[in-house]
This record gives sequence, structure tokens and C-alpha cells, in this order.
Amino acid sequence: MKDLTPDRKTLDPIEIASRDEIAALQLERLKWSLSHAYRNVPFYRQSFDAAGVHPDDLQSLTDLAKFPFTTKADLRANYPFGLFAVPREKVARLHASSGTTGKPTVVGYTRTDIDTWASCVARSMRAAGTRAGDIVHIAYGYGLFTGGLGAHYGAERLGCTVVPVSGGISPRQVQLIEDFGATTIMVTPSYMLAILDEYRAQGRDPRKSPLQVGIFGAEPWTNAMRTEIEGMFDMHAVDIYGLSEVMGPGVANECVETKDGLHIWEDHFYPEIIDPETGQPVAEGERGELVFTSLTKEAMPVIRYRTRDLTRLLPGTARTMRRMEKVTGRSDDMIILRGVNIFPTQIEEQVLKIRSFAPHFRIVLTREGRMDALTVQVEAAEGHSDSGERLDAAARLKKAVRDATGVNIAVQVVDPGGVERSQGKAVRIVDNRPKD
Ligand code: DLL
Repeated sequence: MKDLTPDRKTLDPIEIASRDEIAALQLERLKWSLSHAYRNVPFYRQSFDAAGVHPDDLQSLTDLAKFPFTTKADLRANYPFGLFAVPREKVARLHASSGTTGKPTVVGYTRTDIDTWASCVARSMRAAGTRAGDIVHIAYGYGLFTGGLGAHYGAERLGCTVVPVSGGISPRQVQLIEDFGATTIMVTPSYMLAILDEYRAQGRDPRKSPLQVGIFGAEPWTNAMRTEIEGMFDMHAVDIYGLSEVMGPGVANECVETKDGLHIWEDHFYPEIIDPETGQPVAEGERGELVFTSLTKEAMPVIRYRTRDLTRLLPGTARTMRRMEKVTGRSDDMIILRGVNIFPTQIEEQVLKIRSFAPHFRIVLTREGRMDALTVQVEAAEGHSDSGERLDAAARLKKAVRDATGVNIAVQVVDPGGVERSQGKAVRIVDNRPKD
């Protein structure tokens, strides 16, 4: 893999400013954001008033803890435009996330917000090792999902040649990567695996592909998956994080030179980690739920938005801005099996250690009597279909999961191609338990 460390001269000065400079900018912007929300959004006025706080009460960054949280339920309750802080005519773009039940959550952007977003994504891409002039293949979905258009504007801003493919039709993905000579791909890690399958189906060697950088996000993925993808494609695999409510992709990104967690673009997003049970801030460096306050968003400021993503904050390394550890999962994706908390990423880590398996799996939950049961359906790797080998690999996975988590699971090995491929975010959990 090539050394793609960006020249420090090309970074935005704030990325490597002193902590004092960053904190001073954050305080100034936080004051603006709180008062913008309070003045222009009835929901925030009511929630601040009910909590007995006023934007003037913020004198230091830690005062933010006095302000109430915002949740996804608040977005739903104010559907569609109730949280906008500018007149609807000033909203240049809408995005929405489908959600599993009922109404989507709607987010809005002014022209300035779209401009800020483009620069955050451009900064993320530069951190990942992409340069002006690179050919960028975008296989995140275009449409109401923020992935496609968010990546697109960022890649244009950086000065790249953009190939707006969107998700799906894997044979065409491979053909275009090869024919156009894409050096960067932006896609969910799970769909990257479907593209890998297609390389093999076409008899092409993925290590000879023109790709040098993959910017993967929109779903949790492990360092074990990074090693797998980097090995298969001989490319850098870098993590990008974001969520629609806070902006979209480009809230935080890993640096290619360190790959040690995601630097949060703290000049635009103020992070906190709280205990998800009590809502109290955790001690520095402890794991908990990530909470964001937007510092510059005009159309839809968010104050202490509870992401439900679990991670911890770490000091800066390649940049002075703080890092968040790779997200282990969302509190919603946590499986509680006989009292033990398990995340799909913990299963992924173990699956990837076993060479007889392909990196495709899903978790099926069932209930037998009063007991919940978890079965991992995992694919045999190509050329590993011997039944003895499968049995042995299944036993190893069972043991590895028991050693790592303490729970007993069942393992079902299916033929190559037997686990449905995602075209965007992978669906890892199939819950067949009766709804009670
Ligand atoms: O997934 C935005 C995005 C698009 C990020 C493309 C990165 C790349 P939503 O659809 O609103 O927005 O989903 C946001 O996805 O709260 C996390 O649970 C999860 N997520 C996003 N990025 C990562 C990541 C986009 N790098 C939700 N690692 C978030 C783990 C991620 N989870």
C-alpha cells in the first residue's frame, strides 16, 4: 500500500490548531448555536424553559451538561419541519432516513449548511488519503439517504473526478471501477464485500484493481474487517462516521497515516459521552453513548442529540481534534441474550479469524420455551465445503464466541452465497422471537 499521508500544508489550520484555540472557537460557536435554537425553534425554547436553562447560562463548555437532550422521538414528534430554525424557503435540501416504523426523520440544510457539509466531507476524504484529481467511485446510495449526495459534494469540493454510481448492480460496479480507473471508493463495508465477490466471479484479481483507498462507513465494522479488506484489495480501508440528524457522512473520519479511531471535526460538532442509563457525562476516556451538539448548522441545529452509538473519546493524534473509537454498535442493535449484552461486531471479529468462513454472516434470534437462542448463519469460504471442515469451523466459532462473551450460541454454516448481500447498510440481525 502506498503512503498517502497528506501534506500538512494542505490541512485546514483548525485541524492542527492548539486545544485552546479549538476550545475558544467551540465556546463562541456553542453560544451562537444555543441561542439560534432557542430563538428560532419553539421545541428548544420549551425544552430549555422546562429545564430552567437559558442560552446565557453557558459560560464554559462544561455548562452544556445543564441543557436537555434531544432524541429521535423529538424529531418524529416535530415531523416534518418543526425543528427547522429558518423559514422553509431558506431550506435548500431535505434528506430523510426511513426508519423501521412509521414516519421518516426529516433533516434540512441551508445553502451554507450544504457548503459546510461539503467541506467536512472533503476534509474527511483528504484525511483518508484521497487527493484532488483522484477518481472517486461513489457507491453509497443516492437519494434521501445522506450517503451518496454527501460523499458526492465532498468529492467535488476536494477537486476529484466523481463517478456517481450509487448502490447495486455489482457487475457494473466492477466494470466502472476498472474501466474508469477509480482510485478511491466510498461505500458501506458490507457492500464492498459484495463487490469483492463480483471481482472473483469475473475472474479478476482484486489486488490488481486501481483502488488505493476505501472510505467505509454508515454501519459498524471492525478492525478485523479492515485487515480483511486491505489484504484482499491491497488498499487502505478508512472509517467515516456521520448521521443524518447531525449532518450526514463526514462528522468524523480516520486518518490514513494512523487508522486509530476517527477524528471528530470538532469545529462543527461538539461531542460528549454519557452513561445511557443515567444521562450523566462519563469520566474522560470511558465508554458510553455519543451525544452531539451542532456548532454551525443553520437550518436544523441539534442540541445534545443522543446518537445511541456507543464509543469513547480519545485525545488527538494525527490531528489535535479528539478521536472517537470505532463505534462498537448502536444501543438499538445490542442483543441481550440470557442477560449478556452482545453486539454483531463481536461476532464479526470472531468469524473473521476463521479461514474456512467467508466474511458474510447474520444473526438469527429465536425463542425456545422461555429461553432466547442465537444462531450465527455464516458462509463457508469458496473451496471450503468439506463437511468435516465445516463442522470443525462451526465448533471453533462457538467456542470463540463463548470465550469472548460468555454465551452459548449455535452456528449454521451455509454454502457460499447463502447469506443475502446488502446493497447499503447490512441487516445483521433477524429477530424471529415472538413479539410480546
Ligand atoms: O449512515 C451517514 C453516513 C453515510 C455515514 C455514509 C458514513 C457514510 P444515517 O442513515 O442517519 O446516516 O445513519 C446513522 O449509522 O448513528 C451509526 O449508528 C451508523 N454509522 C454511520 N457511520 C458509522 C461508522 C449515515 N463509521 C447511523 N461506524 C449512525 C459505525 C456508523 N456506525
